[in-house]
Amino acid sequence: MNINRPRGTTDIYGENIEYRNYISNTARKIFEIFNYKEIITPAFEHTTVFSRSIGEGSDIVSKEMYTFQDRKGRLLTLRPEGTASIARAVIENKMYVENLPLKLFYEGNMFRYERPQKGRMREFWQIGVEAIGTDNPIIDVEIMWILNSLFEKLGFRKLVFKVNSIGCNKCREKFLIEFKRYLEPRIEKLCDDCRNRFDKNAMRIFDCKKGECINILKDSPEIYSFLCDDCKDKFKEILECLEELKIDYVIDKTLVRGFDYYTGTVFEIISEDLKSEQNALGGGGRYDNLLKELGGPDLPATGFAIGVDRIIMLMKQLKLSYKKDRELPRIYIIAMDRKCQFHSLKVLKYLRDSGIVCDINFNNRGIKKEIKLAEKNGYSFVIIIGENEIKTGNLVLKDIRKFKQYSINWENEKEKIMEFIGESV
Ligand code: HAM
Repeated sequence: MNINRPRGTTDIYGENIEYRNYISNTARKIFEIFNYKEIITPAFEHTTVFSRSIGEGSDIVSKEMYTFQDRKGRLLTLRPEGTASIARAVIENKMYVENLPLKLFYEGNMFRYERPQKGRMREFWQIGVEAIGTDNPIIDVEIMWILNSLFEKLGFRKLVFKVNSIGCNKCREKFLIEFKRYLEPRIEKLCDDCRNRFDKNAMRIFDCKKGECINILKDSPEIYSFLCDDCKDKFKEILECLEELKIDYVIDKTLVRGFDYYTGTVFEIISEDLKSEQNALGGGGRYDNLLKELGGPDLPATGFAIGVDRIIMLMKQLKLSYKKDRELPRIYIIAMDRKCQFHSLKVLKYLRDSGIVCDINFNNRGIKKEIKLAEKNGYSFVIIIGENEIKTGNLVLKDIRKFKQYSINWENEKEKIMEFIGESV
């Protein structure tokens, strides 16, 4: 019987939970400042939500989706990303009748049947942002600004912010004619997948990771040179605003991103410290046609998502800490036996009601061992409750970092605990 977790998934606990919460809390604070509101959507959707949005020719739809039939034969898919679900939810709940733009954020687990390796999982966690209902370039700037602030706040300093524009439908139409003209004489050298893509969806040839196809693409025409005046102007405006905000960027004319829904400006944040193909920590861009293509109103939109698992991996590699806002003093109560445990309840209640992080020993390993354990688990104080303490009504509060101890009469001076640990009730 196989009772291990499925390949490409992970159990998250201990220090990784601290990192995750730190990333999530940091992101949430920034979202609040920029006025983004949370949305939670189902972990699975009707398959068409993704196949129509991300594109039939994309790697995700053609090879990586976890698709299954439910008991009534409906075709469902575990979400491989968040954008399509958000677009579906905005349309279905008619959220667009409220003030536009809608500014939304989400956190959730995503599922892609990829080959698991360092930084690439089959179940992974994203935090994302979507702004729906305006094509004003200032919102593209805002989205990139949030992304940049988030990485700055997390302590990253050496990331590369790549930007490009893949134009509107008109630009892409012109580009594709030239692109196909370039590929035609080289078609035999493309891999089977790309030969297929050539007919169905040539843009997706840019997603290919195979050496021969990458070589062919090196000299191909670039979408950037086919931008119409409107797309060029918008892109220029965005770059000027980024400069005004002192957000460093590099234009990467090869950046197209692996989803059909993108139009106009796209971007990615890369870490050169991650020496692998999986060095993208986040990415996004404009998707002006998606809502309409899913049967909704014609609303332009833009957004990004970050990969939480990869960020944790890099934070650990770079020794970036997950700082707690304020390190609360923590008290560990050591009760010497069951009777003492009962007497400890009132102390525990008093401390917990006062907002102090505290715990009690559930086994008695002896005072020395318990104190060592408390220290190891980040407690700075212990309170020992034994026969003597019950008899005298006095508690011993030990500061295990500074090797000090205080005797406190429970009935008359329990507030002194707060004084000694530097907290007011
Ligand atoms: P994406 O680039 O596919 O974009 O994913 C965003 C981030 O999720 C990546 O940069 C990476 O850090 C992380 N990620 C992706 N796949 C994996 C994986 N298999 N294992 C671990 N981490 C992974 C999107 O998903 C778009 N929905 C972003 C977006 C939002 N565009 C507009 N709005």
